[in-house]
Amino acid sequence: MAGRTVLIAGGAGGMGFATGLRLAADGERIALADLPGSKLNDAVARIAATGAKAIGLPLDIRSVAACREAVDKAREWGGSLDILVNAAGVWLEGAASEVREEQWDLVLDVNLKGAFFLISAAIPHLSAAQGVVINIASDAGIVGNNGAAVYCASKGGLVLLTKALALELAPHGVRVNAVCPGDAATPMIEYQARTYGGDDPDGYKRRLLGHYPQAEKGTVHHRGRDRLLHPLPLPARCGADNRGRAFDRFRHQCRILNCGVGFIAWRVHDRVPQIP
Ligand SMILES: NC(=O)c1ccc[n+]([C@@H]2O[C@H](COP(=O)([O-])OP(=O)(O)OC[C@H]3O[C@@H](n4cnc5c(N)ncnc54)[C@H](O)[C@@H]3O)[C@@H](O)[C@H]2O)c1
Repeated sequence: MAGRTVLIAGGAGGMGFATGLRLAADGERIALADLPGSKLNDAVARIAATGAKAIGLPLDIRSVAACREAVDKAREWGGSLDILVNAAGVWLEGAASEVREEQWDLVLDVNLKGAFFLISAAIPHLSAAQGVVINIASDAGIVGNNGAAVYCASKGGLVLLTKALALELAPHGVRVNAVCPGDAATPMIEYQARTYGGDDPDGYKRRLLGHYPQAEKGTVHHRGRDRLLHPLPLPARCGADNRGRAFDRFRHQCRILNCGVGFIAWRVHDRVPQIP
Protein backbone atom coordinates (compact mmCIF):
# COMPACT_ATOMS: atom_id res chain seq x y z
CA MET A 1 0.00 0.00 0.00
CA ALA A 2 1.39 3.44 -0.92
CA GLY A 3 1.68 6.18 1.66
CA ARG A 4 2.48 6.09 5.33
CA THR A 5 0.20 5.51 8.30
CA VAL A 6 -0.08 8.50 10.60
CA LEU A 7 -1.63 8.25 14.06
CA ILE A 8 -2.64 11.64 15.43
CA ALA A 9 -3.69 11.85 19.08
CA GLY A 10 -5.91 14.88 19.55
CA GLY A 11 -6.63 14.50 15.85
CA ALA A 12 -10.06 16.14 16.06
CA GLY A 13 -8.62 19.30 17.59
CA GLY A 14 -7.27 22.40 15.86
CA MET A 15 -3.66 21.44 15.30
CA GLY A 16 -4.17 17.69 15.16
CA PHE A 17 -6.82 18.02 12.47
CA ALA A 18 -4.80 20.55 10.44
CA THR A 19 -1.89 18.15 10.56
CA GLY A 20 -4.08 15.27 9.41
CA LEU A 21 -5.48 17.30 6.55
CA ARG A 22 -2.03 18.35 5.42
CA LEU A 23 -0.56 14.86 5.53
CA ALA A 24 -3.65 13.42 3.84
CA ALA A 25 -2.93 15.72 0.91
CA ASP A 26 0.47 14.03 0.66
CA GLY A 27 -1.21 10.64 0.27
CA GLU A 28 -0.69 9.43 3.84
CA ARG A 29 -3.28 7.30 5.66
CA ILE A 30 -4.67 9.21 8.62
CA ALA A 31 -5.83 7.66 11.90
CA LEU A 32 -7.36 10.35 14.09
CA ALA A 33 -7.52 9.43 17.78
CA ASP A 34 -9.52 11.63 20.08
CA LEU A 35 -12.28 11.56 22.67
CA PRO A 36 -15.33 9.80 21.22
CA GLY A 37 -18.08 11.96 19.77
CA SER A 38 -19.30 13.94 16.82
CA LYS A 39 -16.17 16.11 16.70
CA LEU A 40 -14.07 13.05 15.95
CA ASN A 41 -16.58 11.68 13.46
CA ASP A 42 -16.78 15.01 11.63
CA ALA A 43 -13.00 15.32 11.47
CA VAL A 44 -12.66 11.86 9.94
CA ALA A 45 -15.45 12.58 7.46
CA ARG A 46 -13.76 15.82 6.37
CA ILE A 47 -10.47 14.07 5.69
CA ALA A 48 -12.15 11.15 3.95
CA ALA A 49 -14.04 13.66 1.77
CA THR A 50 -10.71 14.73 0.26
CA GLY A 51 -10.31 11.19 -1.06
CA ALA A 52 -7.74 10.22 1.57
CA LYS A 53 -7.91 7.09 3.68
CA ALA A 54 -8.98 8.01 7.20
CA ILE A 55 -10.20 6.29 10.31
CA GLY A 56 -11.38 7.52 13.71
CA LEU A 57 -10.11 5.86 16.86
CA PRO A 58 -12.01 6.87 20.00
CA LEU A 59 -9.38 7.36 22.70
CA ASP A 60 -9.14 8.73 26.20
CA ILE A 61 -5.41 9.23 26.28
CA ARG A 62 -5.34 9.09 30.08
CA SER A 63 -5.74 5.32 29.91
CA VAL A 64 -2.56 3.38 29.19
CA ALA A 65 -4.57 0.38 27.98
CA ALA A 66 -6.51 2.63 25.59
CA CYS A 67 -3.25 4.09 24.24
CA ARG A 68 -1.96 0.60 23.48
CA GLU A 69 -5.23 -0.32 21.81
CA ALA A 70 -5.21 2.80 19.61
CA VAL A 71 -1.65 2.09 18.48
CA ASP A 72 -2.48 -1.52 17.67
CA LYS A 73 -5.64 -0.57 15.79
CA ALA A 74 -3.84 2.08 13.74
CA ARG A 75 -1.11 -0.40 12.83
CA GLU A 76 -3.62 -3.10 11.95
CA TRP A 77 -5.70 -0.69 9.85
CA GLY A 78 -2.80 0.91 8.01
CA GLY A 79 -0.48 -2.09 7.70
CA SER A 80 2.30 -0.04 9.30
CA LEU A 81 2.72 2.80 11.77
CA ASP A 82 5.09 5.39 10.37
CA ILE A 83 4.29 8.68 12.09
CA LEU A 84 2.89 9.38 15.55
CA VAL A 85 1.75 12.92 16.32
CA ASN A 86 0.94 13.79 19.91
CA ALA A 87 -1.44 16.74 19.68
CA ALA A 88 -3.89 15.97 22.48
CA GLY A 89 -3.81 18.60 25.16
CA VAL A 90 -5.72 20.47 27.82
CA TRP A 91 -5.15 23.91 29.26
CA LEU A 92 -5.33 24.97 32.91
CA GLU A 93 -4.58 28.31 34.48
CA GLY A 94 -4.97 29.90 37.88
CA ALA A 95 -3.00 30.56 41.03
CA ALA A 96 -0.80 27.66 42.09
CA SER A 97 -2.22 27.92 45.61
CA GLU A 98 -5.68 27.03 44.22
CA VAL A 99 -4.81 24.03 42.06
CA ARG A 100 -6.63 20.85 43.03
CA GLU A 101 -5.14 17.38 42.78
CA GLU A 102 -7.59 16.24 40.11
CA GLN A 103 -6.68 19.25 37.96
CA TRP A 104 -2.99 18.43 38.20
CA ASP A 105 -3.74 14.80 37.32
CA LEU A 106 -5.86 15.72 34.31
CA VAL A 107 -3.29 18.06 32.78
CA LEU A 108 -0.31 15.82 33.41
CA ASP A 109 -2.17 12.67 32.32
CA VAL A 110 -3.36 14.15 29.02
CA ASN A 111 -0.37 16.30 28.09
CA LEU A 112 2.48 14.10 29.29
CA LYS A 113 1.56 10.61 30.46
CA GLY A 114 -0.66 9.91 27.46
CA ALA A 115 1.97 11.08 25.01
CA PHE A 116 4.57 8.88 26.68
CA PHE A 117 2.47 5.72 26.64
CA LEU A 118 1.44 6.20 23.03
CA ILE A 119 5.09 6.47 22.09
CA SER A 120 5.98 3.54 24.30
CA ALA A 121 3.37 1.32 22.64
CA ALA A 122 4.36 2.51 19.17
CA ILE A 123 8.11 1.86 19.45
CA PRO A 124 8.16 -1.61 17.83
CA HIS A 125 6.04 -0.41 14.89
CA LEU A 126 7.91 2.87 14.45
CA SER A 127 11.15 0.99 14.62
CA ALA A 128 10.01 -1.40 11.90
CA ALA A 129 8.95 1.56 9.76
CA GLN A 130 11.95 3.78 10.61
CA GLY A 131 9.32 6.22 11.70
CA VAL A 132 8.84 9.58 13.34
CA VAL A 133 7.32 10.97 16.52
CA ILE A 134 6.23 14.60 16.65
CA ASN A 135 5.16 15.95 20.01
CA ILE A 136 3.20 19.19 20.06
CA ALA A 137 4.63 20.81 23.18
CA SER A 138 4.42 24.58 23.65
CA ASP A 139 6.51 27.68 24.06
CA ALA A 140 5.05 27.54 27.58
CA GLY A 141 7.18 24.44 28.08
CA ILE A 142 10.32 26.41 27.34
CA VAL A 143 9.82 29.86 28.82
CA GLY A 144 6.98 29.29 31.30
CA ASN A 145 3.77 31.29 31.61
CA ASN A 146 2.69 33.36 34.57
CA GLY A 147 -0.35 31.68 36.16
CA ALA A 148 -0.22 28.37 34.29
CA ALA A 149 2.36 26.42 36.27
CA VAL A 150 0.73 23.02 35.81
CA TYR A 151 0.34 23.38 32.04
CA CYS A 152 3.93 24.63 31.79
CA ALA A 153 5.19 21.69 33.85
CA SER A 154 3.41 19.25 31.53
CA LYS A 155 4.83 20.87 28.41
CA GLY A 156 8.31 21.27 29.87
CA GLY A 157 8.12 17.57 30.66
CA LEU A 158 7.15 16.84 27.07
CA VAL A 159 10.12 18.82 25.77
CA LEU A 160 12.55 16.81 27.91
CA LEU A 161 10.73 13.57 27.11
CA THR A 162 11.30 14.40 23.45
CA LYS A 163 15.02 14.95 23.94
CA ALA A 164 15.48 11.82 26.04
CA LEU A 165 13.51 9.58 23.67
CA ALA A 166 15.27 11.06 20.63
CA LEU A 167 18.49 9.73 22.07
CA GLU A 168 17.02 6.41 23.18
CA LEU A 169 15.28 5.67 19.89
CA ALA A 170 17.96 6.93 17.51
CA PRO A 171 19.69 3.54 17.41
CA HIS A 172 16.33 2.07 16.35
CA GLY A 173 16.08 4.53 13.47
CA VAL A 174 13.18 6.45 15.00
CA ARG A 175 13.28 10.27 15.10
CA VAL A 176 11.57 12.10 17.95
CA ASN A 177 10.98 15.83 17.65
CA ALA A 178 8.80 18.49 19.21
CA VAL A 179 7.05 21.59 17.97
CA CYS A 180 6.58 24.38 20.50
CA PRO A 181 3.90 26.69 19.12
CA GLY A 182 2.92 30.03 20.50
CA ASP A 183 -0.74 31.00 20.62
CA ALA A 184 -2.71 29.89 17.61
CA ALA A 185 -6.39 30.34 16.91
CA THR A 186 -7.75 26.91 17.75
CA PRO A 187 -10.61 25.67 19.92
CA MET A 188 -8.18 25.62 22.86
CA ILE A 189 -7.78 29.41 22.80
CA GLU A 190 -11.55 29.82 22.53
CA TYR A 191 -11.93 27.52 25.55
CA GLN A 192 -9.39 29.56 27.47
CA ALA A 193 -11.17 32.82 26.68
CA ARG A 194 -14.57 31.35 27.59
CA THR A 195 -13.36 29.75 30.81
CA TYR A 196 -10.93 32.33 32.11
CA GLY A 197 -11.96 35.49 30.30
CA GLY A 198 -14.84 36.33 32.67
CA ASP A 199 -17.13 38.85 31.01
CA ASP A 200 -14.38 40.01 28.66
CA PRO A 201 -13.20 37.03 26.58
CA ASP A 202 -11.91 39.34 23.85
CA GLY A 203 -9.84 41.23 26.39
CA TYR A 204 -8.45 37.89 27.55
CA LYS A 205 -7.36 37.10 23.99
CA ARG A 206 -5.80 40.57 23.63
CA ARG A 207 -3.81 39.97 26.82
CA LEU A 208 -2.60 36.66 25.43
CA LEU A 209 -1.40 38.32 22.27
CA GLY A 210 0.34 40.94 24.37
CA HIS A 211 2.83 38.22 25.30
CA TYR A 212 4.09 38.24 21.73
CA PRO A 213 5.96 41.24 20.38
CA GLN A 214 4.34 40.70 16.98
CA ALA A 215 0.93 41.17 18.64
CA GLU A 216 -0.41 38.83 16.02
CA LYS A 217 -2.38 35.66 16.47
CA GLY A 218 -1.38 32.76 14.27
CA THR A 219 -3.77 30.27 12.85
CA VAL A 220 -2.97 26.73 11.97
CA HIS A 221 -2.64 27.82 8.37
CA HIS A 222 -0.87 31.03 9.23
CA ARG A 223 2.41 30.23 7.57
CA GLY A 224 1.03 28.50 4.54
CA ARG A 225 1.09 25.02 3.21
CA ASP A 226 4.81 24.38 2.93
CA ARG A 227 5.39 25.18 6.60
CA LEU A 228 2.83 22.71 7.86
CA LEU A 229 3.71 19.58 9.67
CA HIS A 230 5.74 17.47 7.36
CA PRO A 231 8.13 14.92 8.74
CA LEU A 232 10.82 14.02 6.27
CA PRO A 233 12.53 10.65 5.94
CA LEU A 234 15.20 9.79 8.46
CA PRO A 235 18.34 11.48 7.15
CA ALA A 236 20.91 9.43 9.02
CA ARG A 237 20.92 5.96 10.49
CA CYS A 238 22.76 4.90 13.59
CA GLY A 239 24.95 1.83 13.54
CA ALA A 240 25.99 -0.24 16.52
CA ASP A 241 29.62 0.05 15.47
CA ASN A 242 29.75 3.82 15.74
CA ARG A 243 27.27 4.49 18.48
CA GLY A 244 29.16 7.45 19.87
CA ARG A 245 29.33 9.27 16.58
CA ALA A 246 25.77 8.38 15.72
CA PHE A 247 24.67 9.71 19.07
CA ASP A 248 26.38 13.01 18.37
CA ARG A 249 24.93 13.19 14.91
CA PHE A 250 21.50 12.44 16.23
CA ARG A 251 21.65 15.12 18.88
CA HIS A 252 21.75 17.59 16.02
CA GLN A 253 18.75 16.01 14.38
CA CYS A 254 16.53 16.33 17.42
CA ARG A 255 14.85 19.66 17.14
CA ILE A 256 12.73 21.43 19.67
CA LEU A 257 11.18 23.97 17.37
CA ASN A 258 9.91 27.04 19.12
CA CYS A 259 7.37 28.51 16.76
CA GLY A 260 6.82 31.80 18.55
CA VAL A 261 3.58 32.95 17.06
CA GLY A 262 1.29 30.57 15.30
CA PHE A 263 1.50 26.95 14.47
CA ILE A 264 4.26 26.25 12.10
CA ALA A 265 4.73 22.67 11.42
CA TRP A 266 7.75 20.71 11.16
CA ARG A 267 10.56 20.05 8.76
CA VAL A 268 13.76 18.43 9.81
CA HIS A 269 16.71 20.03 8.11
CA ASP A 270 19.81 21.81 9.23
CA ARG A 271 18.44 25.30 8.97
CA VAL A 272 15.75 24.74 11.58
CA PRO A 273 16.79 26.77 14.62
CA GLN A 274 17.57 24.68 17.66
CA ILE A 275 16.99 25.60 21.25
CA PRO A 276 20.35 25.01 22.95
N1 LIG B 1 -3.61 26.63 20.53
C1 LIG B 1 -2.51 27.09 21.06
O1 LIG B 1 -2.32 28.31 21.14
C2 LIG B 1 -1.43 26.16 21.53
C3 LIG B 1 -0.17 26.72 21.80
C4 LIG B 1 0.85 25.87 22.22
C5 LIG B 1 0.64 24.52 22.32
N2 LIG B 1 -0.60 24.00 22.07
C6 LIG B 1 -0.75 22.56 22.21
O2 LIG B 1 -1.04 22.02 20.93
C7 LIG B 1 -1.80 20.81 21.07
C8 LIG B 1 -3.05 20.94 20.20
O3 LIG B 1 -3.88 21.96 20.76
P1 LIG B 1 -4.99 22.73 19.93
O4 LIG B 1 -4.66 24.15 20.00
O5 LIG B 1 -5.18 22.08 18.62
O6 LIG B 1 -6.22 22.51 20.93
P2 LIG B 1 -7.59 21.73 20.72
O7 LIG B 1 -8.31 21.89 22.01
O8 LIG B 1 -8.24 22.18 19.48
O9 LIG B 1 -7.13 20.21 20.53
C9 LIG B 1 -6.76 19.37 21.60
C10 LIG B 1 -7.41 18.03 21.36
O10 LIG B 1 -7.05 17.15 22.45
C11 LIG B 1 -8.17 16.35 22.70
N3 LIG B 1 -8.13 15.77 24.04
C12 LIG B 1 -8.30 16.41 25.23
N4 LIG B 1 -8.34 15.53 26.23
C13 LIG B 1 -8.19 14.30 25.67
C14 LIG B 1 -8.15 12.98 26.19
N5 LIG B 1 -8.31 12.73 27.50
N6 LIG B 1 -7.98 11.96 25.33
C15 LIG B 1 -7.84 12.19 24.00
N7 LIG B 1 -7.87 13.42 23.46
C16 LIG B 1 -8.05 14.46 24.28
C17 LIG B 1 -9.35 17.29 22.55
O11 LIG B 1 -10.58 16.59 22.39
C18 LIG B 1 -8.95 18.10 21.35
O12 LIG B 1 -9.47 17.58 20.15
C19 LIG B 1 -2.13 20.71 22.57
O13 LIG B 1 -1.24 19.80 23.16
C20 LIG B 1 -1.87 22.12 23.09
O14 LIG B 1 -1.51 22.10 24.45
C21 LIG B 1 -1.63 24.80 21.65
